Amino acid sequence: MPIVTIDPQRCKKDGLCVRICEKVFAQAVEGSPPVVVHEENCNSCGHCVLVCPAGAITQTDCPPEKVHPVRKEILPSYESMREMVVARRSIRTFKKKDVEKEMIERIIDAARFAPSAKNTQSTQFIVVQDKPLLQTLASATAEWLGKIAKQLKNPLMRKLYLLRGEKNAEEVTQWISQFELIVKRMRSGSDPILFNAPALVLFHADQSASFAEANANLAVQNATLIASSLGLGTFYTGYLVAACTRDKAARRLLKLPRNHKAYGGLALGYPEITFSKWVERNPAIITWM
Ligand SMILES: Cc1cc2nc3c(=O)[nH]c(=O)nc-3n(C[C@H](O)[C@H](O)[C@H](O)COP(=O)(O)O)c2cc1C
Ligand code: SF4
Repeated sequence: MPIVTIDPQRCKKDGLCVRICEKVFAQAVEGSPPVVVHEENCNSCGHCVLVCPAGAITQTDCPPEKVHPVRKEILPSYESMREMVVARRSIRTFKKKDVEKEMIERIIDAARFAPSAKNTQSTQFIVVQDKPLLQTLASATAEWLGKIAKQLKNPLMRKLYLLRGEKNAEEVTQWISQFELIVKRMRSGSDPILFNAPALVLFHADQSASFAEANANLAVQNATLIASSLGLGTFYTGYLVAACTRDKAARRLLKLPRNHKAYGGLALGYPEITFSKWVERNPAIITWM
C-alpha cells in the first residue's frame, strides 16, 4: 500500500489536498492542518502531489523523479485537437513498410496514460509484427467467423443468439452472408481481417480488474490519436478481438496470460491511401436534463 505523508513545516494549510482527495485527506476546519485519515483509500493517482503548491505531500508511488511539469506552451488548441479528431479515419490500406519499434513504443507510451478505473492501469499490450503469425491470426479469425455463419444457418441457434444479445433478427441474418464472404476472401488470398497491416497491438487485461474493458478501450483511443500524429494509420480489429475472446485457437496463438481477456485491438501501419477531406457525422442525439 502506498504511504502518504504531509510535511507540516511546508504545508500552507490551503486544503487543496482535501478538496482534490476527500477519500484520503481531511481538515478539521478551514485553515487547520490537513491530515491523512484514510491512507488505505489511496489509488496512487498522484493528484495530491501534483496539486500541492508547497510540495508538502509525499506519496510513495509518486516520487519526485516521476513528477513532471506540464508544458502548457505546446498543448494543442481546441482547433488542432478538433481537426485531429475529425480527420482521423480507420486506415485499411498499408504500405509494405514495417513500423519501427520506437514508433510502437511511443504509441503504447500514450496508451498507458489513459484513465483507468481506480487507477488500476490494468491494460497490457501484445505487439505482433511477425508476418506468418499475423496471417495465421487473420485466418483463424476468418475461420471462426465461418463457424459462426454455419451455426447461424440453424434457426434454433439463430434464436439462441438473439436471446443472448440485443441484436435484431435482420442483423443476425446479415451476419451469415458477411461472414461467409470474409471466409471466401480470406481463402482466396486477400485479408479482410487485418488488411495486411504490418503490425497488430492487442489490449488485454486481467478479467478481474474493475472496468477492464473500458480501461482498455480508453487506452485504444489514446493510441489511435497518437498514432495518427505520428503519420501512422490504425483501425480497430473488432473481429479479431472477438475471436480472441471466444475462440480457443486464436486465444492460444496470442499466448494470452491465464485470466486475461483481449478487450481491444489496433491494426497499425503506414497508410498507403490518406484522406484530405473529412465527412460530417450524424448530429449528436443529446438529452439535456
Ligand atoms: C472506466 C472508468 C471508471 C471510472 N469511474 C470513476 C468513478 O466512478 N469515480 C471517480 O471519481 N473516478 C472514476 N474514474 C476515474 C479514475 O479514478 C481515474 O482515471 C484514475 O484515478 C487516474 O486518474 P487520472 O484520470 O487523473 O489519471 C474512472 C475511470 C475509468 C476509466
Ligand atoms: S495519490 Fe491520489 S488517491 Fe492517493 S492520496 Fe494522493 S490524491 Fe488521494
